[in-house]
Amino acid sequence: MFDLSGKKALVTGGAVGIGRGYAIALASAGADVAIVDIDDKVGPITAKEIQAMGRDSVYIHCDVTKADQVQAMVDAVVARFGRLDIAVNNAGIAILGADATLEQKDWDKVIAVNLTGAFLCCQAEARQMIAQQAGGKIINTASMSATIANCNASYDASKAGIVHMTKTLAAEWGTYNINVNCISPSYILSPMHASTPTVVRQRIRDLTPLGYVERPEDLFGPVVFLASDASNYVTGHDLMVDGGHTLNAWLVPLGRALPPRVSPAQEIVQLKHDLTAMGLPFDADGINPDLHPEIADVFKAAFNL
Ligand SMILES: NC(=O)c1ccc[n+]([C@@H]2O[C@H](COP(=O)([O-])OP(=O)(O)OC[C@H]3O[C@@H](n4cnc5c(N)ncnc54)[C@H](O)[C@@H]3O)[C@@H](O)[C@H]2O)c1
Repeated sequence: MFDLSGKKALVTGGAVGIGRGYAIALASAGADVAIVDIDDKVGPITAKEIQAMGRDSVYIHCDVTKADQVQAMVDAVVARFGRLDIAVNNAGIAILGADATLEQKDWDKVIAVNLTGAFLCCQAEARQMIAQQAGGKIINTASMSATIANCNASYDASKAGIVHMTKTLAAEWGTYNINVNCISPSYILSPMHASTPTVVRQRIRDLTPLGYVERPEDLFGPVVFLASDASNYVTGHDLMVDGGHTLNAWLVPLGRALPPRVSPAQEIVQLKHDLTAMGLPFDADGINPDLHPEIADVFKAAFNL
């Protein structure tokens, strides 16, 4: 039911982080996976890692904000694999900053990558799946920030847009046996979060019933579920994968009866792998304060660091 043998997949933003995790999960379940990204250094490394798992893989450069590149990317996937069964639209960015002073160009960029980019990908992928007349699975990456006010308005609005776009496309494309769903992670230790200080990680653990900071590995099961026959009657769904973080405002502090399933050292296994592949330094906690200094600055100000 969860077997993806023979399936042909693509993952955008697949070079590192959550996208690399999705690609490994789909390949583990049997799929061939194209790595789609703008990181021409790490993208081919990730494609080779998938090949080393015994699956076919190829790196395809594509800026998801450009409709012509997106169409060429889907054509390249089909040229390589012969068809497209599973498409994971995951490329995304965050540009943090106070909303009262955020520059319009930054708002535009976040919406262009996170929302317009995902829509352009959905369109081109669905056109291919419709032509194949064999259905398909489209999975978008939203965020808990679609449901709670978390980052800033551009990021949160782009992710809320993903959730509702997913519902609309699911309603439209069910007629073609195409399922469209999205996954909403909480805080994941990807390169996007490489600058997040340890005190903030501890705060996340303290506010999460399952007690540890999310990793790309925690999305392996959810993405395989949504890509496989196991989810054939699930469409238009936003699958929250947050360890319970958004369940409550936690006025009463959370306690623990058992140690969390994942230790702090295990939280950062893929983060360290990704930073190594990117050729970037990091400390023992997997922190690189220079990769996203603007995120570090927000946390430093909020936590008086
Ligand atoms: N890290 C988190 O805490 C978190 C939480 C919820 C949702 N998300 C979402 O998950 C997705 C992946 O995030 P991540 O944490 O792995 O980020 P990341 O920054 O670690 O990796 C993002 C990848 O997307 C690629 N990318 C960026 N712009 C692109 C473009 N225009 N075209 C193609 N590829 C592009 C980057 O090169 C990179 O490989 C994003 O949509 C993000 O918003 C992240």
